[in-house]
Parts: sequence; structure tokens; C-alpha cells
Amino acid sequence: MATILMTGGAGFIGSHAVRHWVTRFPEHHIVNLDALTYAGNLANLDDLRGAANYTFVKGDICDREFVASLFETHQVQHVIHMAAESHVDRSIQGPLAFVRTNIEGTLNLLEAARGRGEDFGRFYHISTDEVYGSLGPEGAFTESTAYDPRSPYSASKASSDHLVRAYFHTFGLDVVISNCSNNYGPYQFPEKLIPLMIRNMQLGQPLPVYGKGDNIRDWIWVGDHVTAMEHVFEKGQSGETYNLGGQQECTNLDLVHRLCDIVDDALRRPQGTSRALITFVTDRPGHDKRYAIDPTKAREELGWEATVKLEEGLRQTVQWYLQNAAWLESVTSGTYRDYYAKQYGG
Ligand code: NAD
Ligand code: TYD
Repeated sequence: MATILMTGGAGFIGSHAVRHWVTRFPEHHIVNLDALTYAGNLANLDDLRGAANYTFVKGDICDREFVASLFETHQVQHVIHMAAESHVDRSIQGPLAFVRTNIEGTLNLLEAARGRGEDFGRFYHISTDEVYGSLGPEGAFTESTAYDPRSPYSASKASSDHLVRAYFHTFGLDVVISNCSNNYGPYQFPEKLIPLMIRNMQLGQPLPVYGKGDNIRDWIWVGDHVTAMEHVFEKGQSGETYNLGGQQECTNLDLVHRLCDIVDDALRRPQGTSRALITFVTDRPGHDKRYAIDPTKAREELGWEATVKLEEGLRQTVQWYLQNAAWLESVTSGTYRDYYAKQYGG
């Protein structure tokens, strides 16, 4: 039995990943460390309460001493590091929290891992394709594309990637990194494009499309990302990076159009009702034009491939948000913050 520390497990990707590891690997003890920032919601993992191989710890990865003691208390053997400040627009408003959590927090975890010496196994760092910058109309990011981050968010993630690699080269720590494209699916905080749009459509509020809506993202179903994570963690070569993506490129406007049509259909409203809410707003500063991932290395070396097509994933996502109106309401009203106190009394 190994203890795997998963950070950021109360967030969007983290909650899917923790659920996957807890249920798929009953022989391992999963410790979920999360500070429960605005983006962390323990209700996302309500179904795991009482699971024998699962422990939740509320704590901040920026607290170096606390992190070091946690590694000893739980005899942490492996780390799957997902905790981060993750929203580009917030990084433009306030970059400091991104530097703290994404860079210093990652460094604290690396130091604690190094401190475990021979008892430590693998450090798996979850990162983003945004470290590679912005593409023109052609081509896709490969693992050898030069880093060129353009937002405080992507610059902080790039920095953390470099630190993780530095611990491989300098200290011989067993590390793997994956850089993934835009995730979507259930439990995503409604500041990100897809859940924000679904919510506004439900409420009949404007759908803010930045600029002309011609920026392109390569979307991946969160479940496909989690499957890829298992492959990287289990089979990835130490010191290596793997690019992960769904190969489902779409302009933002096209994506919003598709969502509008799915939501109108699901709510039995006349087609065009939601499209009429689209409002073009001032563009994001430094808005990366296009992201696209070449996932050849993950396919050839790990045998992983994304399976969910965008149209199907969007339908499932809309259905989930419409069926989970109470979840959406609690995260937008803020009542989700009471969950921890109610369950853990703190
Ligand atoms: P998220 O914002 O939904 O969740 C982040 C989680 O980290 C939250 O539960 C939050 O409480 C926790 N956290 C934040 N600061 C912390 C701290 N100081 N100490 C402990 N916990 C803290 O993020 P997400 O979208 O699920 O992304 C998870 C990871 O995946 C991030 O590292 C992100 O960079 C990466 N990633 C995300 C995407 C995407 O499309 N969402 C794509 C590629 C990579
Ligand atoms: P987002 O979900 O913030 O992810 P990222 O910036 O990390 O790719 O945004 C996805 C795309 O949607 C991005 O090009 C910015 C755009 N966008 C809008 O047009 N309107 C919005 O309200 C938001 C949040 C994003």
C-alpha cells in the first residue's frame, strides 16, 4: 500500500482525478490536500466520504513547514500535483497569488518530496499547454516546442514546470509532467467559458464573447484527461513530458453557438433564443490566438488517446449542469463554502 498525495483534489480536474484513483486503486491510500480556495468545493467529492482509502486534509501548499510535516505524517510516497490558481483572467487582475501557489507551492512540494529521500517515489506535475504560448493558423504544440508563456497564469505554470525538471536533473527526483489542453465537463467552476455560458443561457443573461470570438482552443473531456493521467503516472518515463489534448479544435464563437443550440434544444426553447444573447465584449489583454496539441508521443509511448468527441462531450456537459442546478446555484451564491464546516466541523 502506497500513500499518494493528490493536491487540488477539491477543484475541477482534481475531483475527477481523486475519485478515479480512490475507486480504481483501493490498495493505495489517497490523501487529498486542498486549501479550499474559491475554486475548491468538497461537495464535488461527497460520494467519497467514508471511503477506507481516502483522507481529506485542508491545507495550503504555500505553507512549507506544514507541507513537510504532512509528508512525514502520511509517509507520502508519490505526488500527483494539481493544486493551482487556474484562471487566466484572475491572473491578469492579481498575479501574486499565481506566483505564490503555482511557483512557491510547487517548490514546497518538491522540497518535501526530496526530503523523503529513498522513501519517495514519483512526482507527477499537472500542467497546461498554455506554457507554449500562441499558435498561428497552422501546426500544433509538441513536447519540443519552446516555452513562450504570455499570461501571468501561463508564466507561473511554465516556471513550475522548469522547477520540476530542475529537481529531476539536479536531485535525481523521479518526475513526470503532462501539459494538457482546455478541459471541460461536470464540476467546472462557472468562471470558465463553458459553464459560464451554460449558466448565463439558463438565466437569459448576456453571453460575453471576448474580441471577435475567433480564438481557437483544443478541447478535451475531463474524463479523457484523467485516463491520460493514469497512463502518464504509471508508464511515463522519468524526466519526460507528455502533451495531452482532445484534437477537438474550435473557435470560441463556434463553441458558444453549439452550446446555445444544445441548451435551447434541452430546454425546449425556440432555436436562436440563446444565440440572441451573444454579446461581443472587450478582448482579454494578451489573448492567445490558438492552442492545438499534437498528442503523438502520448499515443505512441503510452497507448493513450482521447475518446470523447466535442459534440458528445458538450451534450453531456449541458445535461449535467441542467440536472445539477443546485450545485451551480451553491457555487455561484457561495453557500458551497459551508460544506467543509458542516462535514468536518472546522
Ligand atoms: P481549479 O481552479 O478548478 O482547482 C484548483 C484547486 O486547487 C482548488 O480545489 C483549490 O482549492 C486548490 N488550491 C488552490 N490554491 C491552493 C493552495 N495554495 N494550496 C492547496 N490547494 C490549493 O483548477 P483545475 O481547472 O481543476 O486545474 C487543475 C490543474 O490542472 C491546475 O494545475 C491547472 O493548471 C491544470 N490544468 C488545467 C486545465 C483546465 O483546462 N482546467 C488544463 C490543463 C492543465
Ligand atoms: P477560459 O475558459 O478562461 O480558458 P483559457 O483562457 O485558459 O483558455 O477561456 C476559454 C476561451 O474563451 C478563451 O479564448 C477566452 C474565451 N472566453 C470568452 O470569450 N468569454 C468568457 O467569458 C470567458 C471566461 C472566456
